[in-house]
Amino acid sequence: MKLFTPKALVCIVALTATSAFAEPAKSLRHAEGATELRQSVFKLLGSNMGQLGAMAKGKIAFDATVAERNAKRINQLSLMIADYTKTDTSAFKVKTEALGAVWEKPLEFSQSIEKLTLASLNLQKVAATKNESAIKNAIGGVGKSCGGCHDVFKAE
Ligand code: HEC
Repeated sequence: MKLFTPKALVCIVALTATSAFAEPAKSLRHAEGATELRQSVFKLLGSNMGQLGAMAKGKIAFDATVAERNAKRINQLSLMIADYTKTDTSAFKVKTEALGAVWEKPLEFSQSIEKLTLASLNLQKVAATKNESAIKNAIGGVGKSCGGCHDVFKAE
């Protein structure tokens, strides 16, 4: 008996790469720990994107090598978001900007993650060409995917 066609297997693999099934936090302590780790991933994203944004705006010197390095980091970090957001902390009073929608709309959330994964991969490729205006455009694409998720899943 054939359980999975190769095509179905590809779909399963693709899904598990970007979505982790939510697990409710078991205690306030657990929720606080999970929140700290979750925010750490986003802080690192912010740190790497800050430099790219400043470059795109001409506030710091343009450097294609830094753009490529940061794009690679952002891409790797994007692959960690699903894992570090899978603990649903919404039942506890933790200091967070994550909206309940993160766990209420898992499909939409994983699609937002995937947009960042693809945009950062694109930036990585474009950065390798050293073409300044194309790189600045691709940085804009990454920024859009950050903002797109924040609009729906982050407070403020
Ligand atoms: C899939 C959704 C999603 C994507 C994509 C995303 N973010 Fe966020 N971001 C969030 C959520 C949710 C929070 C709130 C986390 C919390 O407070 O628990 C957040 C918080 C942050 C924070 C505040 C972290 C802190 O607690 O100090 C920064 C900075 C940030 N994001 C930057 C970025 C940047 C830059 C990108 C793109 C490179 C990005 N984010 C992409 C969902 C996303």
